[in-house]
Amino acid sequence: MADTFDVVIIGGGPGGYNCAIRAGQLGLKTAIVEMRDTLGGTCLNVGCIPSKALLHASELFDTAKNDFAGMGIKTGKLELDLAAMMAQKEAAVKGLTDGVAFLMKKNKVTHFQGKGKITGAAKVEVAGPDGKTQTLGTKHIVIATGSEPSSLPGIEIDEERVVTNTGAIALKSVPEKLVLIGAGVIGLELGSVWRRLGAEVTVVEYLDRILPGADDEIAKQAQRTFKKQGFDFKLGQKVTGVEKLASGLKVSIEPAKGGDAATLDADVVIVSVGRRPYTEGLGLETVGGKTDKRGVIETQDHFKVADGVWAIGDCIHGPMLAHKAEDDGAAVAELIAGKAGHVDYDLVPSVVYTSPEIAWVGKTEQELKKAGIDYKAGKFPFMANSRARTNHQTDGFVKILADARTDRILGAHMMGIGVGEMIGELCVAMEFGAASEDVARTCHAHPTLSEAIRQAAMGVEGWTMQM
Ligand code: NAI
Repeated sequence: MADTFDVVIIGGGPGGYNCAIRAGQLGLKTAIVEMRDTLGGTCLNVGCIPSKALLHASELFDTAKNDFAGMGIKTGKLELDLAAMMAQKEAAVKGLTDGVAFLMKKNKVTHFQGKGKITGAAKVEVAGPDGKTQTLGTKHIVIATGSEPSSLPGIEIDEERVVTNTGAIALKSVPEKLVLIGAGVIGLELGSVWRRLGAEVTVVEYLDRILPGADDEIAKQAQRTFKKQGFDFKLGQKVTGVEKLASGLKVSIEPAKGGDAATLDADVVIVSVGRRPYTEGLGLETVGGKTDKRGVIETQDHFKVADGVWAIGDCIHGPMLAHKAEDDGAAVAELIAGKAGHVDYDLVPSVVYTSPEIAWVGKTEQELKKAGIDYKAGKFPFMANSRARTNHQTDGFVKILADARTDRILGAHMMGIGVGEMIGELCVAMEFGAASEDVARTCHAHPTLSEAIRQAAMGVEGWTMQM
């Protein structure tokens, strides 16, 4: 056996590397096994980080093209240098993945490159890129293998023309016609990037709404805004196949409830129909671990798969989000070290990094209605917020939902510029069990966008002041 550890973590994404850092901080002898060349997982390599680098750059391009003149700024001819835009994205990824490697060293975590496989209690085999294998002995195994994109029958992903997030952040030219399958987070974010750079974007969505999981009212307003920006939505439609021709792609669609089929032309198709846990070849069965029908690893209370075997992040239940995986990782390290580790999945915020952004935490109105919980709502539009007006960014609103009897905040839903940052205020408030009145009576600086949160909170008791 090559070496023995207190903890061996399989997977170097946000779940795995944060677990490793926390385990290192707590004095545990820790190893992390990652099959990619770099640490950081989907998030840093092909997900959150590169997509945000492209979202930021493409938004600046769009603003320069469409909004500068209205603010009294004249430019010469605006041109896109896609290769340079991609290079700055890659630089952001490299900087951050190098940063994770540094953090491993700083916290005395041993990094093994290769595919990790459980070969029994307390044993992880690592198959390195050179074909050699070694077995690590360990007291605890943490599975943090994440997820992979789901696909659809009749669709062959090639990451050039028919792409997942991986191909969609690395296209070599701006497609003339882009079809998105799925109006979820990935579709809307990456669709926004390419629309801003000049693509004509059609979104095919199986449901009769966009953004499943978001509050209905937010999703409806977001759809209207994205439509104004140029997205063409085909809701209640399913894709039955994508034919690859030399001249382009033919996307076959038909109504989800049955009806006449149709085809759409495309140069590129982004398949963004969700993700599934990545547990292939993991050797879960050697320790008595099980997955459900969707491949989600079954855990008992607090991340436990079996004695000395734990699982965190996208491969277990709960939202498939980097920050949820990070919290899982830290909690498991603490549990292994004999401390109390816990994550409240009801307070994991969601952010969609479109323009405007969409963010929420806690329950939606439809969830509260379904649960029979009596609630009050306070709302405030950015149109009435002074900072949003001076910035010419008035789309969207804030909505706060509070328990009708106790006034405790149960949910917060926002659409507007910068709400991805602003949602943190509500996460803290809700973590402390705040009432809407607590937020309403907290002084917020003027003029700021966050005043809209305060005004919405005032609205719960009907004393909104700036409208
Ligand atoms: P998603 O679950 O957000 O959306 C998938 C959409 O595809 C749904 O609206 C679904 O109804 C639709 N769909 C499924 N089958 C279909 C079919 N046959 N035809 C048409 N539509 C179909 O999944 P997405 O966007 O792929 O994202 C995957 C995961 O990554 C999610 O868990 C998401 O939360 C996460 N993610 C989070 C980001 C963020 O936090 N900003 C950014 C990107 C991804």
